[in-house]
Amino acid sequence: MSVAGGAGVRLVLMGAPGVGKGTQAAEITRRVGLPHISTGDLLRAAIRDGSPLGRKVAPIVERGDLVPDALIGEVMEERLSRKDAEGGFLLDGFPRTVAQADLLDRILARRGQALDRVISIEVPEPEIIERLVGRRSCGRCGATYHVRYQPPKVEGICDRCGGELTRRPDDTEAVIAERLRAYREQTAPLVERYRKTGLLLSVDGRGRPDEVFGRIVAAVPGLRS
Ligand code: AP5
Repeated sequence: MSVAGGAGVRLVLMGAPGVGKGTQAAEITRRVGLPHISTGDLLRAAIRDGSPLGRKVAPIVERGDLVPDALIGEVMEERLSRKDAEGGFLLDGFPRTVAQADLLDRILARRGQALDRVISIEVPEPEIIERLVGRRSCGRCGATYHVRYQPPKVEGICDRCGGELTRRPDDTEAVIAERLRAYREQTAPLVERYRKTGLLLSVDGRGRPDEVFGRIVAAVPGLRS
């Protein structure tokens, strides 16, 4: 398996809601400059903009259900066809169903490319719930904090840009339970699929974010700078 240098590397970050995919993706991107493609971020941007896609998916995301594969397929066909994704990417939150994994295989096969690694971050559910309930995000630059584990210097204000920190509407306990159910039923089976193909790297997501990052870097040679 070739994982050689940031550019040209095609990685998937998987894991239940709140395991730290976005946190680790930000570090990986900083280290090797791969485009970070998060379906959650793309959907939230569409909802914020009030686009036709955003209006369709808003109630689904609000409930914690998965958006239909056909809609995600359209979004990702378009996103992966952009120039910046030609030379490698870091996918976060996609694929999330068997149909989405099949679509990704087809897109890559058309280009004569393949995935290099699928990194699955594992964290026990009680810790996931604590992380999500305490998460705060910057409405202006998207930076993520945690009231206890990664607090900003000034409460409610982003260290990076001074924007206001808010709680994501799907981070209530009832919606988190629904998102975890969707993960167990529709996404967890993909872990086995990627294990069978030899692409899977399971990473213990407990401990400080820099400790988790160290585990990922140690196991993926292309991320060592
Ligand atoms: P999405 O945005 O993908 O959300 P998610 O998978 O639920 O993941 P999160 O963004 O909540 O968590 P994360 O793993 O990135 O954790 P983070 O780093 O923020 O999807 C949202 C919704 O969009 C879905 O529910 C669905 O409706 C829809 N959707 C998206 N993609 C889809 C698809 N492909 N198909 C269908 N529907 C789709 O960390 C969480 C918190 O923990 C933060 O506060 C952070 O500071 C803290 N933290 C991180 N690491 C650590 C650590 N090591 N120790 C302590 N705290 C930590």
